[in-house]
Amino acid sequence: MTTEYQTFDYDVLVIGAGGAGLRAAIEASANGVRVGVITKSLLGKAHTVMAEGGIAAALGNVDDRDNWKVHFADTMRGGQYLNDWRMAELHAKEAPDRVRELEAWGALFDRTKDGRILQRNFGGHRYPRLAHVGDRTGLEMIRTLQDHGIHLGIDVHMESTVLTLLKDSGRIAGAFGYERERGRFLVFQARAVVLATGGIGRAYQVTSNSWEYTGDGHALAYDAGASLSDMEFVQFHPTGMIWPPSVRGILVTEGVRGEGGVLQNKEGRRFMFDDIPENYRAQTADTEDEGWRYTQGDRNARRPPELLTRDHVARCIVREVREGRGTPHGGVFLDISWIKARMPNADAHIKRKLPSMYHQFKQLADIDITQEPMEVGPTTHYMMGGVRVDADTQMSDVPGLFAAGECAAGLHGANRLGGNSLSDLLVFGKRAGEYAARFAKENATVTLDSSQIDATAREALEPFERNGENPYQVQHDLQRMMQDLVGIVRREDEMERALEELGKLRERARNAGVVGNREYNGGWHTALDLHNLLTVSELITCAAIERKESRGAHFRDDYPQKSEATGTCNIILQRSDSGELNLKREPLRELPSELKQVIEEMK
Ligand code: FUM
Repeated sequence: MTTEYQTFDYDVLVIGAGGAGLRAAIEASANGVRVGVITKSLLGKAHTVMAEGGIAAALGNVDDRDNWKVHFADTMRGGQYLNDWRMAELHAKEAPDRVRELEAWGALFDRTKDGRILQRNFGGHRYPRLAHVGDRTGLEMIRTLQDHGIHLGIDVHMESTVLTLLKDSGRIAGAFGYERERGRFLVFQARAVVLATGGIGRAYQVTSNSWEYTGDGHALAYDAGASLSDMEFVQFHPTGMIWPPSVRGILVTEGVRGEGGVLQNKEGRRFMFDDIPENYRAQTADTEDEGWRYTQGDRNARRPPELLTRDHVARCIVREVREGRGTPHGGVFLDISWIKARMPNADAHIKRKLPSMYHQFKQLADIDITQEPMEVGPTTHYMMGGVRVDADTQMSDVPGLFAAGECAAGLHGANRLGGNSLSDLLVFGKRAGEYAARFAKENATVTLDSSQIDATAREALEPFERNGENPYQVQHDLQRMMQDLVGIVRREDEMERALEELGKLRERARNAGVVGNREYNGGWHTALDLHNLLTVSELITCAAIERKESRGAHFRDDYPQKSEATGTCNIILQRSDSGELNLKREPLRELPSELKQVIEEMK
């Protein structure tokens, strides 16, 4: 059967072409090895572009009190101290260099009056820290990395999906997949593989993620025997569009709140003032006026409560809706038009600072955000959990398998701060590329196991032989079930039910059938995606049951408080050789005293 496959041979194979994948590929290539990149859709179409508001990096351009220590402490506090402290340290220290490098490669940032990179406020960041390009920062980052990478001789396989990772006596040996256009199978031999596949948003019904984000890297790593960590922490971004139904979930950048946008319930009340967590109280404004002054750069003012961390803001919105104070379509109002009362030329200012938001609402919802409020509600946006990696090298516990960006765990702990995703991609994409190249140079050639390849190919074609249910229906029911039973507010009985439902959905997925042939067959591709979606859904649910407390993005109605027992642990998930899920609590590594001191000083 092997002759039916197209085969490729690389030193480093990068799976995913968002910010982390491109940055890894650039670095690996700069280290003199042969690099291939596989992307599930077209180059340039990545969830990275949904990080609109900016890249978090302590450049100190707008407020010179900022530095890596403040950024480190903010990230740890936002992550409720479940973060891998070493990753948080490297990230805070290296992000400024990665941003300056991106600028040197051609990224056009907005500017301060004296010509430096402009930075804006975002939730949980003590000072204005997000280097940005209007509200299109992720897009500019992808454009720059693509432009830079294109000249380095990297092979790009577009519209190609990986079905399994290949191994050779325990270490990684490559990957096997298919290309969407003709449905041909592809075999990649590689000495090192970097997973940079992004998130799992498509396991939920309401999400900012597009169709590609089916937890591929998470599931590929798990199936290959790598351990995963903290899968219970799914970030629901507080502000997604909710109306009209066809656009539900599309992101409304936190940059709107960073520029002074306020959240109101249907009574017109700024409900975020009602619930300010104790550990943020000292830094949070208690009047509208002070909050506004903060967004306008007053160094003595405290930040408005709309800029509390995402987990908290999302829960406050859910509370308003549940208690009957929501908008007609089941969300809350986000209003930036009110700044007209405070600022001359506010309309032009809003269009300049938030051009994409202006067009998005005008074109998709017929709302002029300079004149009227938006209706928004939480949307599944980001996965904090993922492949457990070594902080410095980004290698997983499978030799030769690396992970970077959203599909890797560690940096963000229980909740990610906005803007820390783009800096994560740059800092750890670079590290993954560098160490993957080093690994490939130091480790000899691999041999592929043709029986593993043949078995995966046979299995992949099975949906054509079945006359069963439409895979889209299974996917739809899975998404609805996860939204209802393992969403923002969780309970043990509901999650136990989710596990039962997952068993039934797995059975349905095994029987799902498709018609037609292998060329551009969306039904077939969906049938193949189901395995990953079901795998990550099960991992999320099991980890969420195990964490019997509320912390960060994981909120349990039945355990609303934090608990010592799990609060000092990561939850590690690994597949046994016989295919069972092994789950264990692993105590956090102790913070070194100098970092403890940094956190204390910043308090
Ligand atoms: O709201 C946003 O612009 C998203 C940023 C992020 O997720 O980092």
